[in-house]
Amino acid sequence: MAEQGAELRSKATEYVVFPVVSRDEVSKLGPLVFVRGEGIYVWDVDGKRYMDSMASGVYAVHVGYGRQQIAKAMQEQASRLHYFCPYGYVSEPVIKLGQKLAELAPGDLTLTFFTCDGSEAVESAFKIAKQWAYCKGYRRKYKIISRRRAYHGSTMGALAATGTMSPLREIMEPLPPGYYFASAPYCYRCDFGLSYPDCKLQCANSVEQIIQHEGPDNVAAFIGEMVMAAGGCIVPPPEYWPRIREICDQYGVLLIDDEVVCGFGRTGKFFGAEHYGIEPDIITMAKCITSGYAPLGATITTKEIIDDIPAFWHVHTYNNHPVSCTASLVNIDIIEEEKLVENSATMGKYLLSGLESLSDHPTVGEVRGLGLLTAIEFVKDKKTRGRFPEEQGFCTRIMDLALDEGLILRRVENIIEFCPPLIITKSEIDEMLEITDQAISQAEKELGL
Ligand SMILES: Cc1ncc(COP(=O)(O)O)c(C=O)c1O
Repeated sequence: MAEQGAELRSKATEYVVFPVVSRDEVSKLGPLVFVRGEGIYVWDVDGKRYMDSMASGVYAVHVGYGRQQIAKAMQEQASRLHYFCPYGYVSEPVIKLGQKLAELAPGDLTLTFFTCDGSEAVESAFKIAKQWAYCKGYRRKYKIISRRRAYHGSTMGALAATGTMSPLREIMEPLPPGYYFASAPYCYRCDFGLSYPDCKLQCANSVEQIIQHEGPDNVAAFIGEMVMAAGGCIVPPPEYWPRIREICDQYGVLLIDDEVVCGFGRTGKFFGAEHYGIEPDIITMAKCITSGYAPLGATITTKEIIDDIPAFWHVHTYNNHPVSCTASLVNIDIIEEEKLVENSATMGKYLLSGLESLSDHPTVGEVRGLGLLTAIEFVKDKKTRGRFPEEQGFCTRIMDLALDEGLILRRVENIIEFCPPLIITKSEIDEMLEITDQAISQAEKELGL
């Protein structure tokens, strides 16, 4: 097996292009080759077991690995009718999933456009917003407001709304014009140097200033995640989203709620928007919509908005894919039957208090989260909140130490996030915390802390 593992790792670097990670890094370590998964664990080709702290590394696998019901349903659908083009033709699972999402979504969101992933769902949301404005006679209402630190995808439109200067964005510039960035509701590092609640939500109010500056007739939509996930698990104050909703209503700007990560129970409610009591105009979904069993994205909006658009001029060959929609229907059944949204809320509180118990470490700056979307932000100095320089690799060292012990962690800068599958149990959380605690202690010891 070990020999087979070495051979596969070497072939992987020879034949596969890996996203984001450098070729040097991949060839140095050799990529992990996974062969099977069950519950919250995956096994590599050498037989080593790993606990998945990030629902597949990218917040996707809500119902866990090895769900035979989903695999069987997909096989049945693929044998009966695997695909037909989406221009005016449709299959039963697509209609059923559309109806199900209409029941689950807040407010009057009832009409869904299905894509293959989250970036396409976000692109579709922008195109719905722009086409809606165009059809209503506002030919210049094309601008989109996003936030610094936001991640909304890697296709050109979604990337243009991604508020970071990582190589992902910098190398691809110039991106489509018309995207503007407000401050993130990042209270631990407020752009305005203010503290909640004395700040009077300056970060939300700055959105109004951008709209006024750009001209309300020129701004089509505001996009944001209820809790910023890849931005570092940023949970806004309770009044933040109601204030954004108010501003959007005042200026006729559509509110796009990106639930690609927050949806399907991640934050302890079915959609993150339920925490804030707001009704978005458009919601984007992906990842956990199928728990990763098949590629699927979705953009749901209101009849009122779609009625303003005679025909939606946007298409992908694999819109409305029957096999992916089937996977999603069974995935949602499991989430409902096993009460995984409730489990996310309960286990999320347990995990958060476990992470808080690590606060005595000299490098643990802030612990934060909502449901099973949680994180530790590490700092070099607790008082000044100074960051570890990237080249020091402090969080990378924690991750390497945890990996040796069979725990896969993921970081964003100096932040390590803990977003396990929603099926996680207390004893699995205890195991995760214990390995993390030891890895932090060891990394600190190596720095002489
Ligand atoms: C909030 C959010 N939106 C959109 C996307 C893009 O999704 P995908 O990678 O499936 O294209 C991501 C991916 O991480 C995301 O986190």
